[in-house]
Amino acid sequence: MRILHLSDTHLTREPGPNADGIDTRLVLAGLLNDCSGIAGLDAVLVTGDVADDGSASAYDDVRALVGEFADARGIPVLWTTGNHDSRTAFASSLGFPAATAAFLAASTMIKDHRVITLDTLVPGKAYGLLGSAQLEWLRSVLATPAPGGTVLAFHHPPIALDVEVQQKLNLLDAAGLADAIRGRDVRLILTGHFHLQLFGLLEAVPVWVTPGVVNRIDLTGPPGTERAVRGASATLVDLSSPGSPLLHVLHARDPRAGQLAHETAPEVMARVIAELGP
Ligand SMILES: [Fe+2]
Ligand SMILES: [Fe+2]
Repeated sequence: MRILHLSDTHLTREPGPNADGIDTRLVLAGLLNDCSGIAGLDAVLVTGDVADDGSASAYDDVRALVGEFADARGIPVLWTTGNHDSRTAFASSLGFPAATAAFLAASTMIKDHRVITLDTLVPGKAYGLLGSAQLEWLRSVLATPAPGGTVLAFHHPPIALDVEVQQKLNLLDAAGLADAIRGRDVRLILTGHFHLQLFGLLEAVPVWVTPGVVNRIDLTGPPGTERAVRGASATLVDLSSPGSPLLHVLHARDPRAGQLAHETAPEVMARVIAELGP
């Protein structure tokens, strides 16, 4: 059982360069092309910030690019919302079965594994919440174990480094999630949102943050700044090999990888956190 985990594609409404000069469609297409030789994939997972602006054209283009990759392999694509997404446009463009639901969650069997995608979007904010109704739904699904165990996938990490933007804008009800998965068959939690790779634990379950497709946040910048560099990445998730779950970061072959995309000053970041935080 192998999953190609992508996150934070941030496609814009119009083709062409975004505010950082990055062409989000070209970046996604290049990453998928560089991943074309990976064998044995059973699913592609995209954990949110699919569109940068919630536009239908962005969803349509991501669906076409990722769909072509998946269709060539005869495998499904699983999607979750992120804080940049519009729940309505996301649901209608990506064919989500519960377009009118308060939260866009689904449980999908892939081989002997169950993958549960959750919805942490809070409109107008950058932090994430599962909420009591979704946690109750999750508890009811997890009450019956899956033969190979369960993977949870959603946008906002329930962990954070000692970095203010991560601590204020991550999953706020991580304690509720910890309570819901205690003693259940969850083997791995896959997330995005931070645009960097990060590993931690929730209730002794591995939590993985995959780096962004659109860019990568580089924490070597001065404290309080947000320094983003070019270079699309993804994670190869292996759930069947000995020692699994195994997580391997894949990098697109981009000659400009590592070059500065943007560096946002601490005072600007403080305003963003105040506005989009809790
Ligand atoms: Fe993002
Ligand atoms: Fe995000």
